[in-house]
Amino acid sequence: MRLVRPSMEWENEHRAYVVEWGPKRLIPSGFEIEGFESYEVYLQELSKREKGHGKWLPCSNYLLVNEENRILGMLDIRHELNDFLYRIGGHIGYSVLPSERRRGYATYILAEALHKCRELGMDKVLITCDEDNIGSAKVIMNNGGIEDHSETDADGIVKRRFWFNL
Ligand SMILES: CC(C)(COP(=O)(O)OP(=O)(O)OC[C@H]1O[C@@H](n2cnc3c(N)ncnc32)[C@H](O)[C@@H]1OP(=O)(O)O)[C@@H](O)C(=O)NCCC(=O)NCCS
Repeated sequence: MRLVRPSMEWENEHRAYVVEWGPKRLIPSGFEIEGFESYEVYLQELSKREKGHGKWLPCSNYLLVNEENRILGMLDIRHELNDFLYRIGGHIGYSVLPSERRRGYATYILAEALHKCRELGMDKVLITCDEDNIGSAKVIMNNGGIEDHSETDADGIVKRRFWFNL
């Protein structure tokens, strides 16, 4: 298993992930490809976001792929926080393909994500999850996250907030 950057070679697999995910809002939202004229245009947009672009603070996107070159998960790392991310979103977002859950992949993604954060020079990392997202809370705690106070978003959803000192 390895983390790779999105590139043309992953187009079909990325589309397959989105199909299996279904109509719910994709997590992390930076992997949403609907509305782009082509995958190439989407990739150009991602490379702009890397340095910050429009509403996007600087962020890096990775795909978790296995030996058969199947995408099992997705990861995005926001390099800095604004008020919204500090309260609600955090630095890191991840997901695992629905058919591949509960096999330790998200725990692995987060461990690798924290290495990437160190390489980016980040010293404190915030990760949040919905109060009822037991799986994500376990992923965070498995990796040593330290819980801070919770916050409530505009829809009334309580977000648990955890810090990592790198
Ligand atoms: C949350 C999510 C990333 C977990 O991925 P995963 O690969 O199944 O997680 P892991 O296999 O590493 O599981 C970690 C732990 O959580 C537990 N777990 C995972 N999903 C669970 C669930 N739905 N209910 C209860 N426990 C769960 C696992 O059993 C494991 O427990 P253990 O540490 O005691 O062995 C995945 O369910 C997902 O993509 N959800 C939608 C997107 C999302 O919520 N992203 C996180 C945003 S904060």
